[in-house]
This record gives sequence, structure tokens and C-alpha cells, in this order.
Amino acid sequence: MPATILVGAQWGDEGKGRVADWLAAEADVVARYAGGDNAGHTVVVGQSVFKLHLIPSGILHEHVTCVLGNGMVINPVNLLKEMDDIARMGVDVNPERLVISSRAHLITPAHIALDSASEKALGSQAIGTTLRGIGPAYLDKTGRRGIRAGQMLDVEAFGEALYAMIEKANQTLAEHGHSPIDPKTATVDYLQAAARLKPFIQDTALLLNGRLREGARVLCEGAQGTLLDVDHGDYPFVTSSSPTSGGALTGLGIGPRQVDRVVGVAKAFSTRVGSGPMPTELEGDLANRLRGTGENFWDEYGTTTGRPRRCGWLDAVVLRYAAQVNGFSELVLTKLDVLSGIESLKIAVGYEVDGRRLDFPPSTLGELERAVAVYETLPGWHEAVGHARRASDLPDATVAYINRVAELCDVPIRTVSVGPERDQLVYL
Ligand code: IMP
Repeated sequence: MPATILVGAQWGDEGKGRVADWLAAEADVVARYAGGDNAGHTVVVGQSVFKLHLIPSGILHEHVTCVLGNGMVINPVNLLKEMDDIARMGVDVNPERLVISSRAHLITPAHIALDSASEKALGSQAIGTTLRGIGPAYLDKTGRRGIRAGQMLDVEAFGEALYAMIEKANQTLAEHGHSPIDPKTATVDYLQAAARLKPFIQDTALLLNGRLREGARVLCEGAQGTLLDVDHGDYPFVTSSSPTSGGALTGLGIGPRQVDRVVGVAKAFSTRVGSGPMPTELEGDLANRLRGTGENFWDEYGTTTGRPRRCGWLDAVVLRYAAQVNGFSELVLTKLDVLSGIESLKIAVGYEVDGRRLDFPPSTLGELERAVAVYETLPGWHEAVGHARRASDLPDATVAYINRVAELCDVPIRTVSVGPERDQLVYL
């Protein structure tokens, strides 16, 4: 089996990290293809909880080579911190196991300051970004003035490019009344990071295609989710990259004929962080119930920002759309355990917009904001399901819920997760 693409089917936070961890056991290479440290993947192994933002979860499997692909935007200082953190937890991180694309773009202090300034300027219309500098870094990439990871190989020239970028950002910051960044102090950590990261940088498209030719199995690990895609998401309330399956090809430099499996990951209910439309959003007790208290890392609070996530019923309109955009060959449904004990469960099966019934999300923001979810109600289940490992361990109502979701988006569901632990997966 050559390449598998793993994609979030909703607004991110679907539990991709744990699914990637599961699929990585059978992969030789795990490659991240988009986004940066706006992502947060949590993987639980025994007593250890690994919070990964940039490094693919494949790093937790000793036989796996991890790639940070050209489609990513990388903050080198935060990458190094993450590498040091997991090394302290006993994970072997060396240039044989972790490879950074020389074509990936870098997030600099200029991007972080500009992200924050842009959000402030938007006021009540703010996107609610993670403030990690993602949008400004991609803006510089497409504006053909970004700094790429390969430039860190010449630390002196990298320092000069960084200095110039910060000075330019300072002009924009001053125009909007923000204090400037001191380029001297802001570059110190970056120059140190560049010196340490040099051995990890190479042409990863060459590496990946070479490994594929040798018969290696490659898992292309997506971040964020379909509805946050800059083309296919709820624009402008999106991230600035392409988290959908097409993004895996451009974000890694591999051809479509290498891919024979596209795995979508969806949570059994909906969550969203940041602004933007969410037709099945709930308020009050039920929303709080789905969100959890925040005492447990498994609760619905952002891994990167700690923000409480907006929660709502499962939206099959979104899943149907994600199945179409990504060409899912299967869907993994996560967090079914959270639904135990809710009397009846609603699933949005369509939207009503201006008197019309729609099976897919409308493509304009105005229509999407006016969309009213049309629900179907299914019986809930009272039993806890965390112990389940086979379909026969699940209550009938849980199986009926899973089957109905598969039917509504016309994609088979063969695996569901029933808890945060590595083994809390049910193969149907
Ligand atoms: P940015 O990617 O930081 O520019 O944020 C743009 C939008 O995407 C905001 O609504 C963020 O909350 C959202 N977002 C970015 N990364 C993630 C993620 O990993 N999970 C969930 N939402 C995300």
C-alpha cells in the first residue's frame, strides 16, 4: 500500500493525532503536509500524554521517519522546544527520524506580531486565529517574499533575511500604532535554532518519492480540518493553508497515483474554535456537557490556545461535503464515549436557507450564516462504551448511530474511538 492521507472532516480537533498514531504503526514514513504550530495533537501512551504541535505523531513509533513537508509553515524556535520536550520524555529525535523540508516556510517574530495586529484591527470581525503567525507566514509565501527552511543552512544570510523582514514588519506595525519588535533580540533564538536544525533539513519531496519507489508506506498527516481549508472552508473564517487531501500532494510533492486510501476523521459531535458559522452549535447545559469541565485534557479546550471550544450536534451536511472534497475511502468516528447518557441525539441531515433545502453547505458566507439545520433524532444510549473493543461490545443504539452517519455521508465507518487511550478503538 503506497500513501494514505489522513484528513480532518470538520473544523479541526477531530482526534486526528490518535488516529495518526494508530495508522503510524503500519507506516514507514509519516509526513505532515500543511499548517504549523496552530495544530495540537494529543497522544496518550500509558501514563504519558504527548502534546505535539509540529512533529507528526509517528515520532512515537521507533521505526517511523517523520517529515515536516514543504506545505507547512514552521516556527523553528517552537519546533526545537518541542523536539527537546519529547526527547526529555524518552523519544529519540535525530536527523534519521525527523526531516524538515528545505522548501517549508518559516514563521518569524514578524509574522506573530502581524497576526496579532491584524486580529486587533478586525475587532468584532476577528477570525479568532491561534496567534501563531500562520496567516502572515502564508501571505509572505504566496507574496514570494517568505523565508524558507533551506535558508537556515546559511545561518549568516538567514540572520540578514530575518532582520530585514522584521524591519519591514516594524513599518506596518508602526502605521497601525503597535510597538516595534527589536530585531536584535528577536533574532537571537532563531539563529541558535537555525544552527541546531541544519542537520535535519533536506529536500523531502526527493526523500518521499525515493522511499515510495522502494515500497515504503507513507502516511500523509493532515492538520486542522476541511471546513478550515482556505479554498473549501468557511472563508474567511479559515486557516491559510490546504488541510484537505489535495493539499497533501502539493504539501509533500508527491503525485496522486501514489495515494490509495483517504481516511477522514470526524468527532461524533461538532466542535469549533474561533469565529465563523456553525449551524448545529448548542448553548447551555448540553453544550457544557459535551465540552467537559476542562479538568481533563480530553475535554473540549484548545490544545494550542486553551480556548473553550464551541460545541454542537453532529453535522452530516459537513461530513457529506468533506467526503466529497477529500474523496474519503473511509471515515473514523471519534469520541463516541462522550455521547453516553444523552437521552436522544440529533444529527443535522440538511440545511434550510432562504426557504430552500440544501444537502451541502452553501458556498457564500451570507447564506451559510442564514443556514438553519434540519435535524433527524436518534435514540441515545446510557451505557459507558469506553471498554468496547468489538462491535458486539457496543449498545445497539451506538451501532445504529454509527451506521446512520455512514449512510448520511455515504462513506464506510470501520473504526471508532471510545476514549483517549491508545487501545480504546473499536474495529467494526
Ligand atoms: P490560524 O490557523 O491560527 O490562522 O487560525 C484560523 C482559524 O483556524 C481559527 O478559527 C482557528 O481557531 C482555527 N484553527 C487553526 N488551527 C486549528 C486547529 O488545529 N484546530 C482547530 N482550529 C484551528
